[in-house]
Amino acid sequence: MKHYGVITTLFLFFTSLVTVTVAQTRVESVPANIIVSTDLGTKIISRHIYGHFSEHLGHCIYGGYWVGETSSVPNTRGIRNDIVEALKKTGIPNLRWPGGCFADEYHWMDGIGPREKRPTMINTHWGGVTEDNSFGTHEFLDLCEQLGAEPYICGNVGSGSVEEMSKWVEYINSDGINPMSDMRRENGRDKPWNVKFWGVGNENWGCGGHMTAAYYSDQYRRYATYARNYGSNRLLKIAGGAGASDFDWTETLMRDIPHHMMWGLSLHYYTVNWEDKGSATSFVERDYFETISRCLNVENAIDRHIDIMDRYDPEKRVALVVDEWGTWWNVEPGTNPGFLFQQNAMRDAMVAGLSLNYFNERCDRIKMANIAQTVNVLQSLILTDGEKMLLTPTYHVFEMYRIHHDATLLPLTLNCSSYAMDGTELPSVSASASMDKEGVVHISMVNIEPARNVRMLIDLRGGDFTHVAGRILTAHELNAHNTFGSPEEVKPVSFGGAKISKNMISLEMPAKSIIVLEVK
Ligand code: AHR
Repeated sequence: MKHYGVITTLFLFFTSLVTVTVAQTRVESVPANIIVSTDLGTKIISRHIYGHFSEHLGHCIYGGYWVGETSSVPNTRGIRNDIVEALKKTGIPNLRWPGGCFADEYHWMDGIGPREKRPTMINTHWGGVTEDNSFGTHEFLDLCEQLGAEPYICGNVGSGSVEEMSKWVEYINSDGINPMSDMRRENGRDKPWNVKFWGVGNENWGCGGHMTAAYYSDQYRRYATYARNYGSNRLLKIAGGAGASDFDWTETLMRDIPHHMMWGLSLHYYTVNWEDKGSATSFVERDYFETISRCLNVENAIDRHIDIMDRYDPEKRVALVVDEWGTWWNVEPGTNPGFLFQQNAMRDAMVAGLSLNYFNERCDRIKMANIAQTVNVLQSLILTDGEKMLLTPTYHVFEMYRIHHDATLLPLTLNCSSYAMDGTELPSVSASASMDKEGVVHISMVNIEPARNVRMLIDLRGGDFTHVAGRILTAHELNAHNTFGSPEEVKPVSFGGAKISKNMISLEMPAKSIIVLEVK
């Protein structure tokens, strides 16, 4: 009996230990609700919000997209097949090129004609490496055709002339008999490409010439005048906009550039702490909180740029083009500091999910955005190592959010609790909803809470819905990421946790997760 007594005591002791352990690891959850008005959508989310930016920087072009025709990596005319296939799955709508800072020292004529005869240059901005110009206008436009993406070319204002830019447009878009079109034909392309998106300089307040806003506005008027339309193709010209919180730049350009001369005004805003960028994968919760806080502050600042644009252009004719955005960390240890090669973790996916939800919500003004920089640079979707390629958590967000492309934004009200640290509170949830052409509703949601689930109720108004399905992207840790040895650590899976009854959806969003629901 005594013996049994000891066993029973030990059993109770261990049971209580287990109970304590379970109690300590039980995930707390907080409530939230969303109301979606499924019959009141009027604005279209341009697919170009899901655009990309790729520069001659590090291994974005060379060793990224471009491996050359003789490479053992499977390619089509020198362009990697695996990258093209992967990006097509995201529905990549456009690609901005050749920079960035590189654009304002790029002379396009160096990048046409037989490759062996092209001159070299030093890429002074990015690592001081030799640029052999083997990837030029024809190669870039071939890449866009393979991707099924609209090209967005950024012309050189900083060190190029009006004539040089004017001739580039003529070379690309004219079907006439003139020296530029003839040269293009001699170089193997008969028909013009009819490129639409055309940037007039990049960061001309900085690497693009250190100009004042007033001076750039005048220059813009000159360069844009001679960037002509050919045939029925209309150039959609984009003025080089502000960096971060330079509201004066936006104000001056909106005031001094006639609005009919610019389709869009750009803005660059990175989620970065310039004083200490930090590691992409080695960070603590405080760093995570600061990153999400910065990301949401970017939204506040963009709202101020939008307010300025609204004052000068209440009809919203000029598009805001956020043509560089994303996270910026220290380069991976041992890599060239000028190459901006960084890993990409679940934390980056959260920034992508939040930013894209925000861009959707402002789609009446934001008509294009371009994440920097797609392959091997900054917040990439794809990393390569020789023949190997992996998809980052950010890639998966773009692929999951594809359902919003050109869909109708649905008005949405969100109530949620806060994720707080040291007196600062951030909304735990971000969400965006749209309806596609078939009447299917999609809702993308981000739970930024690192340790708390969200008990979500979604009230769908203005329609009858009986079916819900979903996909989820999450990870055990915020620094979880894919490596060449383990490329599928973070990837989306189907999510069966959402239930629908009488147009009400209920689900529990796990901590640090991104969910996209499909509702019919
Ligand atoms: O994306 C890297 C650099 O950031 C771009 O070249 C420049 O436009 C920006 O400052």
